Amino acid sequence: MGKYSTFNFVKGQWESLSFEPQDLSEKVIIVTGSNVGIGYDTAKALARMNPTKLILACRNVGKAKKAVDEIKTVTGFQDIEPWDLDLASFASVRAFAKRFDESGLQLHVLLNNAAVASPPDFRTDDGFETTLQVNHLSTMLLTLLLLPAIRRTTASTWAPRIILLTSEVHYWADLPERTAPNILTTLNNSTAWGTANRYRVTKLFNVLFVQELARRLARSPLLGDRSIVVSSVNPGLTNTNIGVGSLSFIVKKLLFGRSAERSAITSVYVATAPEVAKLTPYGRYYSNCMAEEAADLTLGVEGEELAGRLWRESLEVIEVTDAEVKL
Ligand SMILES: NC(=O)c1ccc[n+]([C@@H]2O[C@H](COP(=O)([O-])OP(=O)(O)OC[C@H]3O[C@@H](n4cnc5c(N)ncnc54)[C@H](OP(=O)(O)O)[C@@H]3O)[C@@H](O)[C@H]2O)c1
Repeated sequence: MGKYSTFNFVKGQWESLSFEPQDLSEKVIIVTGSNVGIGYDTAKALARMNPTKLILACRNVGKAKKAVDEIKTVTGFQDIEPWDLDLASFASVRAFAKRFDESGLQLHVLLNNAAVASPPDFRTDDGFETTLQVNHLSTMLLTLLLLPAIRRTTASTWAPRIILLTSEVHYWADLPERTAPNILTTLNNSTAWGTANRYRVTKLFNVLFVQELARRLARSPLLGDRSIVVSSVNPGLTNTNIGVGSLSFIVKKLLFGRSAERSAITSVYVATAPEVAKLTPYGRYYSNCMAEEAADLTLGVEGEELAGRLWRESLEVIEVTDAEVKL
């Protein structure tokens, strides 16, 4: 397992990446934030593997319908639907999960791809800093509410997968708030929270949540000898809409950015490759289709403590009890 270095980053941006197409018949897949960017290209590649159903979970139904039509035309795959999901609203997340539960569908792959960086509104209507809610709190809420549907799927021989898109910027996240009595409250109350660091911190939280969820699932008596593969994915620096308000992001993208189609390869690989399910323990961080060591803040006993604290504090905020999660 490698670790981030500038040399590896630059080399990785031009690395040749690939995945073996798999047969996804009988599989139901959700990709959040898939109307544009990496999520769109991920959905398109998965559509070519012929799943039972592909759901594009997006905040703008008009844009999602357009993406659905395009993917249908380009791939010929027809069982694809736009579903309304606004991660800036806990009510929308709960409505989405309820709709999915009532559909009676199983869930084989949950690809949490949607995110924001430097959003125009500092706070959501729910009162949380927007990046924190969209990238971490709502993504966690959605994952936990969909766990029962994912757990039902473990009856099949194919281990279901939960994936969160993170970023290599999680290596540079500065989190002095970890010494505060409550990390989330402290972060949420600070209007001085720098935009770039806000995004980095939420991407660090994605890695920590994945690690903690994997540890809890590994101990879960409900799963027995079955498993749910949980991973985080760094897609690499990509020429998409995210971060267009940041000059340094724009310059870096001009110099090193790659296409969304190429960056989607790691998401598709982690969502489908049989070898990913064999690489235990789960909770790994993938970059350029390889498991790599995540940031120091996530490692060892201190990393586990931080992930555990974040889990407990986040459950309080999203008002989900351990009993409701049923791990
Ligand atoms: N691009 C990069 O260089 C890069 C590098 C590392 C990691 N990533 C990660 O890759 C993932 C995909 O990013 P991208 O580069 O493809 O960015 P993008 O083109 O901006 O796509 C982001 C997607 O998230 C959606 N989204 C934003 N806010 C939402 C909300 N409140 N509810 C539901 N959906 C929402 C967007 O919808 P709208 O179209 O309606 O805005 C869009 O579909 C993100 O997790 C990002 O952090 C990107």
